[in-house]
Amino acid sequence: MESRWLRVAATVAIAAVLAACSPGPTPTPAPTPKPAPTATPTPHPTPTPKTYAEMVVGFIQTGSESGWRVANTASFRDTASAKGIKLTFYDAGGQFSNQIAAFHKFNQDPSINVIVLAALQTTGYYDVLKEAKAAGKIVVIEDRAIDADPSMYTTRVGSDFVAEGQKAAAAMCDLLKDAKSKHVVEITGAVGASVAIDRAQGFRDKMGDCGIDIPIGLSQPGNWGVPQAKSVMAAFIKKTKDIQGVFAHNDLEAIGAIQAIKEAKLKPGRDIQVVGIDATTEGFKYLITGELGADIEYNPLLAPQVYEAALRAMNADASLPKFIPAQEEAFSAAQGAAQLQGLTRAKY
Ligand code: AHR
Repeated sequence: MESRWLRVAATVAIAAVLAACSPGPTPTPAPTPKPAPTATPTPHPTPTPKTYAEMVVGFIQTGSESGWRVANTASFRDTASAKGIKLTFYDAGGQFSNQIAAFHKFNQDPSINVIVLAALQTTGYYDVLKEAKAAGKIVVIEDRAIDADPSMYTTRVGSDFVAEGQKAAAAMCDLLKDAKSKHVVEITGAVGASVAIDRAQGFRDKMGDCGIDIPIGLSQPGNWGVPQAKSVMAAFIKKTKDIQGVFAHNDLEAIGAIQAIKEAKLKPGRDIQVVGIDATTEGFKYLITGELGADIEYNPLLAPQVYEAALRAMNADASLPKFIPAQEEAFSAAQGAAQLQGLTRAKY
């Protein structure tokens, strides 16, 4: 009997030990937590693009020294009203100090978001450009270049004035192709203006191609206008009769030279060839009579390109280039009156 109970106790003990060691009933696995739904980011609303209606421009013009300048101003006024741009126009009257004063005023005007500068000279704008940058203004240089780091302004819309001078030299070479000597006098634009410096350089780059020279002392400023250019040319003719050509930096200076040539009883277009730059309506009149031999165009209607560049800057367009060239051609008396009168370009 006793052994039987021992057998039972041992069995119970073994079962207890086995029970303690064997895993319990396999627990039903806890449900794996579902990942918290990732919050879908609320998309940043894409900013609505700025339009011309939000553009408020302060425009600092050089003055009204030439037909080209008058047409340039008209381009800004007409294009602003056509596009619904608010334009505050300032005429500096040819005075650099006036340009600086106007620039400060525009910098301090919170309503103005774009400043356009037609620079009278190449230097002296650093402080106002720095102030404009700090004030968050978009600055577009129109027409003439300035000596400033390109980071100080958005872009320049104008011309490659060296190329214009080179085109003028090529035109003079053509006009003098049968001339034995090729002494050309020069009537330059305003001293210190980048456009005058570069046009003079461009002409000198190419005049050697056909044996043209500018005799010493026969390059003087005509200050963009008829009266001073006429007296400069009269003085040249008084100094020497051995002049075959005149390179004038703009149409009004070319017209002044033509008047002086005629008063000296010489024939412009026959005795002395004249080349000008701008190709304004005035210049075209003298191309058509043949008194002006060639006129290199500088299109003054720059406002559409300037306003478009400013709008691109308002919309943070990083692809905006630092220089945007004006569209321009070259015209010659050889094209004849009929063709020249039909050209649309001669409408400014
Ligand atoms: O800066 C452009 C020049 O300025 C034009 O050729 C001239 O006519 C104007 O005065």
